[in-house]
Amino acid sequence: MAESVAFSKTSDRRKIYDEIAPQIEALVSNETDLVANLANITAALRNALGFFWVGFYIKKENQLVLSAFQGSIACTRIDFDKGVCGRSYTTKQTVVVPDVDEFPGHIACSSNSKSEIVLPIFAKSGEVFGVLDVDSDKLNDFSETDADGLRKIVGIVEKLVEEIEPPKERRFLQ
Ligand code: SME
Repeated sequence: MAESVAFSKTSDRRKIYDEIAPQIEALVSNETDLVANLANITAALRNALGFFWVGFYIKKENQLVLSAFQGSIACTRIDFDKGVCGRSYTTKQTVVVPDVDEFPGHIACSSNSKSEIVLPIFAKSGEVFGVLDVDSDKLNDFSETDADGLRKIVGIVEKLVEEIEPPKERRFLQ
């Protein structure tokens, strides 16, 4: 298939999420490299929805480490007890922050970021593999529509993660 994602020019985000989710699923099905797929997912989300910053942080040892993203330079490592990303990681919940200045401990990678949504990405074991972080340069820019739409995208990532994780039994034999 063509390596592009088509979407309507509309302010109806639900419609855009519904349009892009199956296309993203098809796009990543052609590639086995996780970072390549995560990179295209961030590009698709930013192009289709015009977000200020979209990226993944992946759990590595005892921190969340910056992975594929689109937007300006961001902090590379986040402790589990820090920031909105850390909150999502430790609570295993989607965290919506309407005004980042009102969130104690928010990590400001850019002063242009005004509101934020972070979703946990689960491994099959139930542990958090990483998070999807989306920032907006507008206050109060994220709603249930985004939480629902982005959860669909995270579901696609969870399937990719499942494919790269060897089953437990095999891990012991390697
Ligand atoms: N604001 C995030 C840090 C990552 S940047 O937004 C790209 C946080 O508080 O966890």
